[in-house]
Amino acid sequence: MTDKLYKPSEKTINEAIIKEYDNKYKFSIDNSDKYWEEQAEYLDWYKKWDKVVDESNAPFYKWFSGAKTNIIHNAIDRHLSDSHRNKLAFIWQGEPGDERHFSYHKLDKEVSAFANILKAMGVRKGEIVTIYMPQIPELIFAMLACAKIGAAHSVVYAGFSREALAERIKDASSKVLLTADGGWRRGKIVDLKSIANEAMKRSPTIEVCITVKRTGQEVEMEQNRDFWYHDLCALPIASGKCETEEMNAEDMLFILYTSGTTGKPKGIVHAHGGYSVYISSVLRTVFDIKEDDRWWCAADPGWITGHSFIVYAPLINGATTVLYEGAPTYPYPDRFWRIISNYGVNILYTSPTAIRGLMRFGDSWVKKHDVSSLRLLGTVGEPINPAAWEWYYNIVGDGNCQIMDTWWQTETGGFMISPYPITPLKPGSATKPLFGIDADVVDEDGNKVKPGEQGILVIKKPWPGMAQTILHDADRFKEVYWSKYEKQGWYLAGDSARIDEDGYFWIIARLDDVIKVSGYRLGTAEVESALVSHSSVAEAAVITLPHELRGNAIHAYVILSQDYTASDKLNDIIKEHVRSEMGPIAVPETIKFVDSLPKTRSGKIMRRVLKAKAQGLDPGDLSTIED
Ligand code: PRX
Repeated sequence: MTDKLYKPSEKTINEAIIKEYDNKYKFSIDNSDKYWEEQAEYLDWYKKWDKVVDESNAPFYKWFSGAKTNIIHNAIDRHLSDSHRNKLAFIWQGEPGDERHFSYHKLDKEVSAFANILKAMGVRKGEIVTIYMPQIPELIFAMLACAKIGAAHSVVYAGFSREALAERIKDASSKVLLTADGGWRRGKIVDLKSIANEAMKRSPTIEVCITVKRTGQEVEMEQNRDFWYHDLCALPIASGKCETEEMNAEDMLFILYTSGTTGKPKGIVHAHGGYSVYISSVLRTVFDIKEDDRWWCAADPGWITGHSFIVYAPLINGATTVLYEGAPTYPYPDRFWRIISNYGVNILYTSPTAIRGLMRFGDSWVKKHDVSSLRLLGTVGEPINPAAWEWYYNIVGDGNCQIMDTWWQTETGGFMISPYPITPLKPGSATKPLFGIDADVVDEDGNKVKPGEQGILVIKKPWPGMAQTILHDADRFKEVYWSKYEKQGWYLAGDSARIDEDGYFWIIARLDDVIKVSGYRLGTAEVESALVSHSSVAEAAVITLPHELRGNAIHAYVILSQDYTASDKLNDIIKEHVRSEMGPIAVPETIKFVDSLPKTRSGKIMRRVLKAKAQGLDPGDLSTIED
């Protein structure tokens, strides 16, 4: 790791919304209610709060309690009253090259139509609608329409399998599923409706499925359950104004499932009020977002990054947001640079995996295009290695764009540790906590560790973007995030980190059995249970090893059931099984057939021993090993 400092240019400093860090940070921590109140004043409210944060039932903090709002009121409605309505709200480019543009006025029309349809189909305030769609504008309309009528959305990433979809529908007890016939990815159609049909066979709660036509292939539609979106749009039910539902600040906006240490994914709950304030505030201050900006978060809307930073925060800030369908390197490795130069994107926010993947193809693909509209860059999802950072900075940013390396989580709602544009950068460090975020690195007992020493990352004060709970599992919420430092009332992020002499944070790795592959979050337990659900697999253990492009790759160790013998064919069959159980991101790079697995006497698999062995390292203390 290098400690060279990359300082912002005069121009960046002059343009920056945040001009100074140390004093303002101190103020924001010492007077956090006041700081968050100031941030909340950037938004419009139907009724303002009685209390900034109600801590009476901690850790179930209620932000802006007593306030009335709806995120749509700030993301759309308030932009309609003046000429801003004619501004581009978002630009979409499909993989085959088709594009669609939406002004705030048009966005409102689309969202109102979708909201009217949902209401007519019986969706009520408070219920959870599951969305399983490709990266198309209707996915965004669907999310916004749910929020508008006070229903919560649960977006399931379109790369997930039927099993994963069915499990999430069941947990949310969704009556309505919104999907599409398919989506484009690397020149091929991902047949979403067939997957949705399979999932619905296992989902007795579903009464209605609305399908958007995207790819046009034949799909199976079940009478009285399945409706084409365009047919519904043509009916009188879709037209007319749809009023935005007034919500309590702490009412549920969405759930998003994320992996934890056990097999069952957690339905993380975010609310209208605090989440709106938090994500819009951090986007405005970290990326210096102004209304004239063209902001491109090149993530998938199906993850928190997309929810917060493709959809909600840019719209609340009145900017133009870009959405693309497909993959960074298809049809050619200049998809990103072409999009930036075509639409005059000012700010690009992506992942280290995408950067590494693009860097592999060399500089000429970037140089071919005029990407000089860029003024800031960002990265998220995993630590960025210095080589990728330097390439991003020098080749993409031409040495003129500061890189905002943002550390955060599904649970935190938005960025937590990140530079502001004025912050001098150290490649690989997310730099310092944002205003109002009391982050620290401590030991097992909660004592601050010395500069440079590895410890446990904690957040010592609540913040408005924080998750409200885990759907149907408040106990698990308390246990996972709040029990380790219960006495102190701190949030356990689940990452290890260190703080250097200059106060810069360096995120090291996950402390738990959560793994990151291409920036995607998976639980070792989820992959292992997908493996053992195949009849040939008696036991399985999963580790990750460093991978040049993906950051980490999954490697599995499998003990076969009695009647099976190891073979290349069986290896492929098991991989295929994981693909259909969980989706392509979970497929192990290698599967090794073994006779036994290292376990503790209490039966826990010692993954660190497998990992050390695979890397040719000393496995460390083996005193608890059984055999
Ligand atoms: O380990 C950290 C890593 O991603 C985890 C959160 O994953 P997820 O909830 O899927 O959210 C991803 C998008 C915010 C964290 O616990 N992580 C995220 N951003 C960074 C990171 N690790 C290092 N540097 C980052 N910038």
